[in-house]
Amino acid sequence: MSNEVEQKPETSVNFRFLAEPTDVNFGGKVHGGMVMKWIDQASYACAAQWSKRYCVTVSANGIRFIRPILVGQLITVTARIVHTGKTSMHIYVVVRAADPKETKAVVTNRCFITFMAIDETGFPIKVPTYEPLSEEDKLLEKAAIQAKDFAKKLDLNFETALGWK
Ligand SMILES: CC(C)(COP(=O)(O)OP(=O)(O)OC[C@H]1O[C@@H](n2cnc3c(N)ncnc32)[C@H](O)[C@@H]1OP(=O)(O)O)[C@@H](O)C(=O)NCCC(=O)NCCS
Repeated sequence: MSNEVEQKPETSVNFRFLAEPTDVNFGGKVHGGMVMKWIDQASYACAAQWSKRYCVTVSANGIRFIRPILVGQLITVTARIVHTGKTSMHIYVVVRAADPKETKAVVTNRCFITFMAIDETGFPIKVPTYEPLSEEDKLLEKAAIQAKDFAKKLDLNFETALGWK
């Protein structure tokens, strides 16, 4: 008897875990770099699930640190596809922190992060198209496109003015 189960393709993933003492900086709050790692991992899982391919991070746009995270808090990292291009997947990530004994959580971080699916030789692959359905989906897609356009303009400005120095 096989214990494999078929998983439906999903537009989002949720990571849930406790902030650990090893995640904390000298000020007693969770390191910003640790939060970025969680965001990258959850959105990698989301992109890989959507494309069914290995994916690489292209860009993190508009990352915001809204509230500090404390050791022992229950963390929820939600990553959802909000826009796709030809090879790119644009993911909206929200991090929430809560006392595990309580029901209320605070939003501590959010950002847009972009992944590309690549094949075994590192060549970009076309990804399935995402269709926004609800009003919220449409608003998020619009915001993700704006973030992408702004980031690409910044890339171009850097390249022409500084040559990626
Ligand atoms: C990611 C990488 C393959 C992109 O290659 P590239 O040829 O420069 O990319 P392109 O300019 O063709 O853009 C690729 C896609 O990303 C999108 N993109 C490019 N810059 C972007 C930005 N700043 N923000 C959002 N999306 C962006 C493009 O619109 C394009 O999407 P589309 O095909 O859906 O239209 C390359 O830069 C790379 O290998 N980077 C290192 C990746 C890495 O090491 N990540 C961390 C470990 S996983």
